[in-house]
Amino acid sequence: MAKILLFGRSGQLGWELAHTLAPLGELTVLGSTDVDFAHPEAIRAAVRAAHPSLIVNAAAYTAVDKAESEPDLAWAINAEAPGILAEEAARTGSLLVHYSTDYVFDGARSAPYIETDPTNPLNVYGKTKLGGEQAIARATAGPAGRYLILRTSWVYGARGSNFLLTMLRMAKERSELRIVDDQVGAPTSSEAIAQATAAILARVFAEGSAQAGTRSQPPAEPTLPADWSGIYHLTCSGAASWFDFASEFLTRRAAVTGAPIPTLIPIPTSEFPRPARRPANSQLCCELVCETFGVTLPTWQQALQRVLDQTP
Ligand SMILES: NC(=O)c1ccc[n+]([C@@H]2O[C@H](COP(=O)([O-])OP(=O)(O)OC[C@H]3O[C@@H](n4cnc5c(N)ncnc54)[C@H](OP(=O)(O)O)[C@@H]3O)[C@@H](O)[C@H]2O)c1
Repeated sequence: MAKILLFGRSGQLGWELAHTLAPLGELTVLGSTDVDFAHPEAIRAAVRAAHPSLIVNAAAYTAVDKAESEPDLAWAINAEAPGILAEEAARTGSLLVHYSTDYVFDGARSAPYIETDPTNPLNVYGKTKLGGEQAIARATAGPAGRYLILRTSWVYGARGSNFLLTMLRMAKERSELRIVDDQVGAPTSSEAIAQATAAILARVFAEGSAQAGTRSQPPAEPTLPADWSGIYHLTCSGAASWFDFASEFLTRRAAVTGAPIPTLIPIPTSEFPRPARRPANSQLCCELVCETFGVTLPTWQQALQRVLDQTP
């Protein structure tokens, strides 16, 4: 049975992954109190103690605005730590699964971004996440190196810190909400990402069983063909602005609770200045992950309804 080491226990995505990855092997889940990603030796020691054949990293420095004033800490967690995980994975021939972001792009493209489009992050968070992608590619450059980097966008869920929960709270406190309407992306639930990750990995495990000539259940070990190693875009389908997203969930919520909906006012980004610049176009084309692994995420509206059903 495969040994799986998951980082990011209490995060939005890590929490969901702890459920969806459990059927695939013997799962160890660690949080920042177990291993602080600012300490490289602690990362190495944790990986060496666990002997995993699969490492899944959902830990990250995700405070996009705060990163502008804490670039060194964000770099240590988002760029250096994933590089160390990749070095450890390559040393033992294990597979690393890591998450990245739409914020590696500048948003100037008018169409959805594909994986090979040039990156040009606008903010410190995006630069550090790009640094993580590059560190992983460097560390796994040898023949044993295998990785999957899944770039996603606008992550939210029924728990944690996210736009949906913030807006639901503010809707109870205010009669009017002003919401940015000129940034477009795909709201993607942590649940949908975790389910898709498990489906991708099930495909990778099946490949391992096929190569070993067995049909063991659960499958023995993840085996990623070299030409599958790399970066994939993984978001819900469709596109929305923050205003569209908020309008949709506040309307659906009100239909259930009967609570009044605040007046929603669409505003340009220029009327909501923040420390970190955001890309205007965050859309990611997800055809490659579908072609390679047969995995498609639901529409953002379908994923939203599932999350609303779980939100108290
Ligand atoms: N949130 C988004 O909108 C978004 C968009 C695109 C891509 N992503 C990417 O998706 C992935 C998952 O994001 P998320 O939304 O689930 O993040 P999240 O909810 O903010 O969770 C981040 C996780 O990282 C851990 N962490 C933070 N600092 C750490 C440290 N010094 N050492 C070890 N662990 C540390 C946190 O642990 P504690 O809770 O114990 O502190 C937490 O488990 C990340 O790679 C992120 O960059 C997120």
